[in-house]
Amino acid sequence: MCRPHGIHVLVLSYAVQSHINPMLQFSRRLASKGLKVTFIIPISAKKSLNLVNSSSIDVVYIPDGSDDVEREKLSFDDSVAHFRVSVVQSLTDFIQKHQSREEKPAKVLVYDSFVFWALDIAIQHGMHGAPFFTQSCVVGCIYYLIHQGTVKLPLEAAHGQDHVLSDPPVMSVLGPDDFPSLVVDLNSYSAVLMIALSQFSNFRRAKWLLFNSFAELEEEIVKWMRNQWSIMIIGPTIPSVYLDKRLEDDKDYGLSLFEPEAEACLKWLDSKPPKSVLYVSFGSLASLGEDQMGELANGLKRMKSNFLWVVRESEEKKLPCDFLQEVGIDDKGLVVKWCNQLQVLSHGSVGCFMTHCGWNSTLEALSLGVPMVAMPQWTDQPTNATFIVEVWKVGLRVRANEHRVVAGEDIASCVNDIMEGERGEEIRKNSLRWKEMAREAVDEGGSSDMGIQEFVINMANLCT
Ligand code: UDX
Repeated sequence: MCRPHGIHVLVLSYAVQSHINPMLQFSRRLASKGLKVTFIIPISAKKSLNLVNSSSIDVVYIPDGSDDVEREKLSFDDSVAHFRVSVVQSLTDFIQKHQSREEKPAKVLVYDSFVFWALDIAIQHGMHGAPFFTQSCVVGCIYYLIHQGTVKLPLEAAHGQDHVLSDPPVMSVLGPDDFPSLVVDLNSYSAVLMIALSQFSNFRRAKWLLFNSFAELEEEIVKWMRNQWSIMIIGPTIPSVYLDKRLEDDKDYGLSLFEPEAEACLKWLDSKPPKSVLYVSFGSLASLGEDQMGELANGLKRMKSNFLWVVRESEEKKLPCDFLQEVGIDDKGLVVKWCNQLQVLSHGSVGCFMTHCGWNSTLEALSLGVPMVAMPQWTDQPTNATFIVEVWKVGLRVRANEHRVVAGEDIASCVNDIMEGERGEEIRKNSLRWKEMAREAVDEGGSSDMGIQEFVINMANLCT
């Protein structure tokens, strides 16, 4: 076996925040084990780039067709195809140059499972491929079962049965509406559904499958997957300074597509009593309707707690007029365009997280011991929400009324329940338990640390 220090690995991420964060952090973990890592990212991520620190790895941008003036005019489906053609070409060019330039070129390409076609490029160049799944194991498993035809679409065909799916058994917590929205509402985002299912079109030709989760969290599913595939569970991919404190690490993922108002958030949070603040965020992509924004604003005004609400610039115009003034008077709330979510979630004054249940947000809250109010919007979020409430028991879920809007009074009462109610007590205890388990998983010798170690050893063995 050659030593990890001689090994170079390429990591290709999709250009969205929720894929960059875990893949960049995973790259840093590999670098901390002595590997040389080149992080490749489509250039469209560069336009609003705020690169905090990448000292331990090289970051390379490759063309993705976003400079093409015609791309603006394309439909969503066509722009996905255009992206693929552009990146196939630029990734091929990059790997060819890399192989001719480097004395010991990389033998492994870790690629975002959403760019599943990158595996062909790796194999054509004599490399091994390892898809990195940015969703939970449960969600990966659902897409796999649909892709191979065990679960048939449309899901309505399964209505009337008790459960759409009961193998592995934990799946039976999912009612038909708790499946990822892409497979519940087939007309909503067909191109994204195609990508989600295609993650499993060629994965058997990949050498290893990497999942951002930890074995204790998804025990049953992980066992089920391990029985048939070579998987490595390597999460939660959160800067270690928040978890095991073993590594000198940054307080940030390192590459933000939005400008965080970090100082303002910290100053405001510092001024609030312990566990008195509700943190509200719907991630980097979800967009709420104007009615929903109004109800949410109303709920936040009604509830007892203080709140810090991230409203992205593109969403700001939906805020009810006078809202900012009203909540500013007694300093009950702070609205920012973006924050450093890890810093906020780990701040002592934050007692609850109202979340859309994106997979990163879910893992971050679990790992930092913050109870959740689940308000899922789309894709894998309804499934994550069900696990948050029914399996991990670290939150409560608010449901939409007949107008497909979650009422402000329901939001307020749910938050009050978690922050100080009886039901909240159990949830708060469970959250601390999961925090400890996440820390143990990434700590030296923990399940995820061993997963990364195994991956490194496997790569080292390729050099012999
Ligand atoms: C989504 C979801 O992961 C998933 O449901 C779906 O597959 C498509 O992508 P996103 O909606 O952005 O991504 O949510 P999430 O996965 O939670 O990722 C958001 C990331 O941005 C998190 O790592 C979070 O820490 C970070 N963030 C969010 C900030 O740093 N600051 C903010 O103000 C908000």
